[in-house]
Amino acid sequence: MKIRLFLLFCLAMAIVPTHAKNISQDSILPVNSRTLASPDGRMEATFYLLNGIPHYALSRDEKPVILGSRLGFELEWRDDLAHAFVLKDVQRSTFDEVWHPVWGEEANIRNHYNEMLVTLEQPVGSVESMDHSTEKRPTIMQIRFRLYDDGLAFRYEFPMRYNGIDNALVCFWFKEELTQFHLTGNHTAWWIPGDYDTQEYNYTESRLSQIDSLYEKGHEHGGWPWTDFSRTGVQTALQMRTDDGLYINIHEAATLDFPTMHLNLGDNYTFRAWLCPDAAGYKGRMQAPCHTPWRSIMVCDKATDALRSRLILNLNEPCALEDVSWIHPVKYMGIWWEMISGKSTWSYTNDFPSVKLNPEPGTQTIKQSDNQAITDFAHAKPNGTHGANNANVRRYIDFAAKHGFDALLIEGWNIGWEDWYGKQKDFVFDFLTPYPDFDLPALNKYAHEKGIRLIMHHESSASTVNYERWMEKAYNLMNQYGYDAVKSGYVGTIIPFAEGHYSQPINNHYHYAIVEAAKHHIMVNAHEAVRPTGLCRTWPNMIGNESAMGTEFRERIHPGHTSILPFTRLQGGPMDYTPGIFEPDMGKIVPWGQKMSHTICNQLGLYVTFYSPLQMAADFPEHYEPYMDAFQFIKDVAVDWDTSIYLYAEPGDYIVTARKPKISSLNKAADGVGNLPDGKKGVISSAAQYVYGLKDPTSLTNQTPRDVWYIGGITDETPREFSVKLDFLTPGKTYDAIIYCDGKDASGLPDNSQFSILNSQFKYNPYSYTITTKKVTSKTTLKLKMAPCGGFAVSIRER
Ligand code: NOJ
Ligand code: CA
Repeated sequence: MKIRLFLLFCLAMAIVPTHAKNISQDSILPVNSRTLASPDGRMEATFYLLNGIPHYALSRDEKPVILGSRLGFELEWRDDLAHAFVLKDVQRSTFDEVWHPVWGEEANIRNHYNEMLVTLEQPVGSVESMDHSTEKRPTIMQIRFRLYDDGLAFRYEFPMRYNGIDNALVCFWFKEELTQFHLTGNHTAWWIPGDYDTQEYNYTESRLSQIDSLYEKGHEHGGWPWTDFSRTGVQTALQMRTDDGLYINIHEAATLDFPTMHLNLGDNYTFRAWLCPDAAGYKGRMQAPCHTPWRSIMVCDKATDALRSRLILNLNEPCALEDVSWIHPVKYMGIWWEMISGKSTWSYTNDFPSVKLNPEPGTQTIKQSDNQAITDFAHAKPNGTHGANNANVRRYIDFAAKHGFDALLIEGWNIGWEDWYGKQKDFVFDFLTPYPDFDLPALNKYAHEKGIRLIMHHESSASTVNYERWMEKAYNLMNQYGYDAVKSGYVGTIIPFAEGHYSQPINNHYHYAIVEAAKHHIMVNAHEAVRPTGLCRTWPNMIGNESAMGTEFRERIHPGHTSILPFTRLQGGPMDYTPGIFEPDMGKIVPWGQKMSHTICNQLGLYVTFYSPLQMAADFPEHYEPYMDAFQFIKDVAVDWDTSIYLYAEPGDYIVTARKPKISSLNKAADGVGNLPDGKKGVISSAAQYVYGLKDPTSLTNQTPRDVWYIGGITDETPREFSVKLDFLTPGKTYDAIIYCDGKDASGLPDNSQFSILNSQFKYNPYSYTITTKKVTSKTTLKLKMAPCGGFAVSIRER
């Protein structure tokens, strides 16, 4: 940190340091300033104490990014970790490695940073401790800073002992985290409201100063239940852009055994960390030795660099699992959109005003009486709209198998859906008992024989206590029948009551579900769970999360939403966005249905711009049938990548991405089914068929994959054209490109949309597209047009 900068942020704090001349020395000083440079030397982080209060600041190219900002905590029962600190020690180190994720946007990730561990002490007698026994011990708090070329991260650490002396902190309770992020100006931000219970919101693009006045608007059409805490509260990852064109993103990483961090905006463009309290109001119950999650500030010159950043993943611990051979990417379909669209129901019967489940499924031990009646589904009258019935499941299995998918999700297979929503029931599901028209053993066998896995569904209805009650049995059932992936869900008010969705105890539940699943070799895709913070690096069986507004919100999703999410929600891990809706006019399914804002090509583009190792083709088979030529792209596209190139991007506007598939995982799901006793051997997924260029494949042994790339583009309500240079192709090779583009008359923007331009030449026509084939080389430049709310997709294969 340059002295003039230090003075600058001190001035910003209206305090002039008395020992500024000493700030570059490593001795312990009344004003202690220590700097840390990024590996490329462009970023500089500074730690300092101001009257015993810890602070940090961050600059890039000698320009401030974060001005002097406080660090620390308010504590229950004792003096805060906020003042009276002296600097005990500073340790520095450098780290540089390349690691290989089990799945991801690229096969090799470089983790390169410089680190500074600052040890702070509240000396004996300077503060009041919690009890007399600890009063004679110093209080030790460490702050570990990691500075990367693309951002700063820091976390608080609380050792049990320091230099042989016991820390006065043993068990302690946070009331508030005081960490500030003092920004340099009124940046543009893409934000969703801070909320303890939902992340399912459209983003608002505004200046920081407008967050307060746009609060109501930001709340429109969000998920339920919602629990806000401040008119200026927002969620992370928060993407911002300065007027100088710098992209700043505040988030957190490796959130384990700790509440989730929100940000609350105060004066002078200063955010303060705002943690999700538990039912008793605490914001973190700690026991030394322990540490908080990382607080991260990504800083990039270009929007495309923000998409390229692996900051959050790098801040997480390496893979905790020794054997990851059972984890694989999944392209799937589902009996799901039928319920979301209103065509079918999760429930089986309309016979009962209230259903009660048998606490001992499969037994007759509970005698039925009028008051204690256990719902008898076996003799209930079917409502005729139950989606997860044997015939329908077989229909979907047939379609998914015919088109080379890996798996089929089935929701509504288990008893209890009649009462699942809004009733705040503890014992809402047993996760074991199928409805009478869902023959679980037979359907799994049928699926396996066709090379398809069924994906289990566990909607906990936010009763985490009940889910934990049944979890072991539920996972055992999955193991028994060969399910290797579960979609879980947390819709509703959390039970235990008064907990929010992102408090420490509930975050611990989500993690418990992942760890227990790993013991059973089960991959997890949790909906409504806490927004991810890169834990999938450590636990790669967490192959998906929703944790944001996904396709289920249909017409409520704003144009541009999917070009914001990769900057925000996806920074922490993949999203099960469930793309692939080819019939966006929901009025064609149910009378109350409305029009969604996208074209068919926009949906194709999402398979490339939106990273997830778990990708759904979410629409009904009968909605794909009329457009099989466009559906071919969904079949051909891979979902796990060797290399990704972010060609064009601007949050809320557009994204254009190119990706090269990872060959080793291309057919892993199909190989896994082949290993089941009743599984079909030698299945080759549709993506593998495309990559290997095989017409009638029987085996991939001795076959050579071709050089393949996919390009995807998406836009908001503004039509756009991009020139895409194919200079990433291997020079000297010739390729065949298949180009899926919006038609001239295409538009995904409903005519009555609030985003429509008056007298626009475009009329709603989401179905119009063109498919062209072209010989291309590394010298080719493609000109690709997108309609309002449109997109494009290109698959490119070496000849
Ligand atoms: C909300 C989930 O996001 C959705 O995908 C699911 O179908 C319903 N809950 C029911 O579990
Ligand atoms: Ca949801």
